[in-house]
Amino acid sequence: MNEWVNGTWEKLDRKLRVTCARNGDILPYTSHNGRFTDSAKSDIAWWTNGFWPALLWLMYAGTKDEEYRRGAESAERILAGAFAEYDRLHHDVGFMFHISFGADYKLTGSREARTRCLYAANLLAGRYNPNGEFLRSWNGGNNVGWVIIDCMMNIPLLYWASEQTGDPRYKYIAMKHADKVLKTHIRPDGSVNHIVELDPDTGEFIRTYGGQGYEEGSSWTRGQAWAIYGYVLSYIHTGEARYLDAAKRVAHYFISCVAATGYVPRIDFRAPDEPTLIDTTAGAIAACGLIEIANNVGEYERNTYLDAAMKILRALEEKYCDWDTDTDPILTMGSEAYNRGSDRGHHMSIIYGDYFFAEAIYKLRGEKPLFW
Ligand code: GLY
Repeated sequence: MNEWVNGTWEKLDRKLRVTCARNGDILPYTSHNGRFTDSAKSDIAWWTNGFWPALLWLMYAGTKDEEYRRGAESAERILAGAFAEYDRLHHDVGFMFHISFGADYKLTGSREARTRCLYAANLLAGRYNPNGEFLRSWNGGNNVGWVIIDCMMNIPLLYWASEQTGDPRYKYIAMKHADKVLKTHIRPDGSVNHIVELDPDTGEFIRTYGGQGYEEGSSWTRGQAWAIYGYVLSYIHTGEARYLDAAKRVAHYFISCVAATGYVPRIDFRAPDEPTLIDTTAGAIAACGLIEIANNVGEYERNTYLDAAMKILRALEEKYCDWDTDTDPILTMGSEAYNRGSDRGHHMSIIYGDYFFAEAIYKLRGEKPLFW
């Protein structure tokens, strides 16, 4: 295992040194003709805009190479412009700012980065609905009670804010949200709803939506991955066993489904076999969560999760990693959504695929800190 992990880390470093130098003034999202597209220009408030600086910070953490640090700081100068877009920022301020500015603060002690991260935490905390006991996901007139599973990855920003400030309110909000979602999104069989609509006045369950999955009641794979990683992170920050149990329950479901397709996830575990639609990003995210579960269970349980993570990562590396330094992205064949009636794409590189793949390899090398 170590040989493969170290070899893959070297491939990441070899390619990212080149792409870091080539992409100093953009925030990549997907790619066109092998080169990153710039979502800072098209939408500075886009939810994925923190992943490029985060990826460069991760490489800096693992190599201490100053080129990565300069690249990350340059990307952050662009990303800081998103704070001017108050009306368009939503719960994904966690994704955007925690693993970018928060990682910067962890690695360099930058006070400016810490301040920005605290602003982001306050934006997220401000979305809390105290009657409903949930964090509102998106903006807009008709979704005041909508909660999406992805938010489980945003709430570590709140745990961090309590750890930083000594003020427990952020953590209380995060835990109320995690407890609500445990009841409304995590199904008894370990599969997960993507979108749940709650009564904004009472928090009562109203209905579910298929969201980025195949249909209502299906099982959007990246949503399952957000739940695995999100709940184990809630466990790491709180020590509450119910969160680790939730992460394990979804992990068992995920592992049994992904084993049936050679450890490469389909976009939705409950969709027709044809067309064959896959989402490599879901595999990379789930692998990160599985590795953290392995790090937090007993010796005789650990291998169930680590072995599954390795099988997923090796399958992705064997079939879907592009190591050519003439092209920018690494992980190919990610998918935005199942795509019934929306214009979201299939089988493309997406920046968070590269980020989570690299984070999983970084973790397997035993590196610290944890960025979330
Ligand atoms: N958080 C949105 C997505 O996973 O596509």
